[in-house]
Amino acid sequence: MPFKLLCPLAGLILLSAAFLPHGSRAQAGVAPPPLLLMPLPADVALDDGTFRVTADFTIGSLSDVGPRLRKAAARFQARLAGRTGLFLSQDVFATLGWTEGTSLFLKSAREGRLEPNEDESYLLLVGSSRIVLDAPTDLGILRGLETLLQLLASDDKGFYFPCLQIGDRPRFTWRGLLIDAGRHFMPVDVIKRNLDGMAEVKLNVLHWHLSEDQGFRIESKSFPKLHELGSDGFYYTQDQVRDVISYAADRGIRVMPEFDIPGHSTSWFVGYPELASAPGPYRIERRFGVMEPAFNPADERVYAFFDAFFGEMAALFPDPYMHIGGDENEGKAWDANPAIRAFKTNHGLADNHALQAYFNGRILKILAAHGKKMIGWDEILQPELPRDIVIQSWRGRDALIKAAKLGYAGILSNGYYIDLCQPASFHYANDPLPDDAGLGEAERKLVLGGEATMWSELVSPETVDSRIWPRTAAIAERLWSPASVRDVEDMYRRLEAISLRLEECGLTHIKNRDMLLRRLAGTDDIDALRNFVDVVEPLKQYKRHSQGLTYTQFSPLTRIADAAFPESRTARLFAAAVDDFLKDKDRETAADLREQFEWWKANQAALIPVLRDSAALREIEPVAADLARLAEAGLAAVTAVESGIAPGPGWAEAAEAAIKEARTSKAHVELPIVPAVEKLVRAASGR
Ligand code: ACM
Repeated sequence: MPFKLLCPLAGLILLSAAFLPHGSRAQAGVAPPPLLLMPLPADVALDDGTFRVTADFTIGSLSDVGPRLRKAAARFQARLAGRTGLFLSQDVFATLGWTEGTSLFLKSAREGRLEPNEDESYLLLVGSSRIVLDAPTDLGILRGLETLLQLLASDDKGFYFPCLQIGDRPRFTWRGLLIDAGRHFMPVDVIKRNLDGMAEVKLNVLHWHLSEDQGFRIESKSFPKLHELGSDGFYYTQDQVRDVISYAADRGIRVMPEFDIPGHSTSWFVGYPELASAPGPYRIERRFGVMEPAFNPADERVYAFFDAFFGEMAALFPDPYMHIGGDENEGKAWDANPAIRAFKTNHGLADNHALQAYFNGRILKILAAHGKKMIGWDEILQPELPRDIVIQSWRGRDALIKAAKLGYAGILSNGYYIDLCQPASFHYANDPLPDDAGLGEAERKLVLGGEATMWSELVSPETVDSRIWPRTAAIAERLWSPASVRDVEDMYRRLEAISLRLEECGLTHIKNRDMLLRRLAGTDDIDALRNFVDVVEPLKQYKRHSQGLTYTQFSPLTRIADAAFPESRTARLFAAAVDDFLKDKDRETAADLREQFEWWKANQAALIPVLRDSAALREIEPVAADLARLAEAGLAAVTAVESGIAPGPGWAEAAEAAIKEARTSKAHVELPIVPAVEKLVRAASGR
């Protein structure tokens, strides 16, 4: 079908994705509504006009329809109806071929394979009377349908899609999310709603971390004591695993299991202590950190066990890759065992690193015999291993570069540790393959992509979504969109819109906060509490582990630190306003800042009785007091900067003391407005 039938070509402007947010139809003299796409497509050509969505919207196909496409179209139709409130009355795929009256034509040549380097590209043409989505594989159709849903907009005449042409393809083939079900078990519904979220932002690998010191999370028919004794009953049955794999496959997502060996393995030994390097007995580990227990690489029974175990798992998981972990084995259990020390000597293995390389080599052969390729954390990088393994870099991008130079494919996770509660902008700036990576063309091709990692020391099924979303959408854009897409402000503009849409698939990343606050406060009158928590963030990095309380698997994750979003939007906008004010001394910005400070002060008065009435909230009283003092200092600072009249003697010292006090961590949270208030105070006092 020629494009001009869809949209008049006159007035068409080709926009590179990088300029898309600012793209304008200058000829027509009107700015287009900003597109709220994430990830941004590779190429977008906007046109005048709209496709109006009405109740007779229908989906047809120009090619054979496989089961995945059929289900995807039905889901699309349900979501479109849900968003528009329209009673879409027609069947899905009632029409084949160029049928008059069909709204959306889908066309794909074949079913895509769920493996790296498969074609996920698509072409989306939205004209005023029909839409065509054309892709080499049905995976491209899935990606394009998500783009189309993101394009849905409304005005006074109703819902519409803007007329445009999108040509899109991923920059990286491996775009993953790791969910750690080991440290805290994540039930199937948590996994499924996150798969839906992943599909919305075009992520295509669920890395399912299934075993840890703290839990063995999958049913094994061959070795039932693994899940019976190693999980407290929190494990996935094999039927549930098949269900998740099929749910993911319907959304074009691979499911790659990780069984972390030889370390991180205490839970395996509760049922099978004979596989460990020390005699045991073993109990499920409840603490977090790097533990000593490790498989015994010198015992042939261990390799026989893995042959049977990986045989069973290889039959269950269709993905070409099996992740063996391999991280953080310090070798203490190996050093303590004389038989293992003798084994090293007899085999000419100079150190534990060489011993682990030997172990990996044996595991690699076992996996290969069961038709699986091996992937592991960067510790497994050993030049003697064959070149079809994949290295997952967590300690630094250097490992990825080093691996590529040695001819190994790799994916980046360093910089995508979403459990550390860093801002979306931090992850967004982290590129797996920057221009200055120092790699040749062939080496660059070995960088396959990256994965966000949701480690679960400090998340429960209740809070996990709020640590994954929406920040992971920014990582998804880094992995899908062209490298030139880098505008941070525009990323946040779109991220906010996408975050709301992610609720559509049941993700709890937004609503969970109010649920926790209601429970903590013991009332549904939580406005003052919410206003306060809005400028609170959980402590970053691993700082929560060094604040006097030892977190274990059984610790409560229901405090303000758990309710607070990892990144405060209010604090981000406040910091930007402070920067603007200090640059321009603009009166309007000054008034905004003053209003914000007054508001925080007033909120404190409303908050005090709420905190007093709840024993669970009392720990944040000093944090609330800090915020009130910062507001007081900020208010005086704005007035001083604006008037040019320095505050009275002793003011600067008192303000600096308030800032210092606000910086000392309390209740495992921090106040992200501190640096901006400090800038104001310094400007006011001329320091
Ligand atoms: C890791 O974070 N130990 C892979």
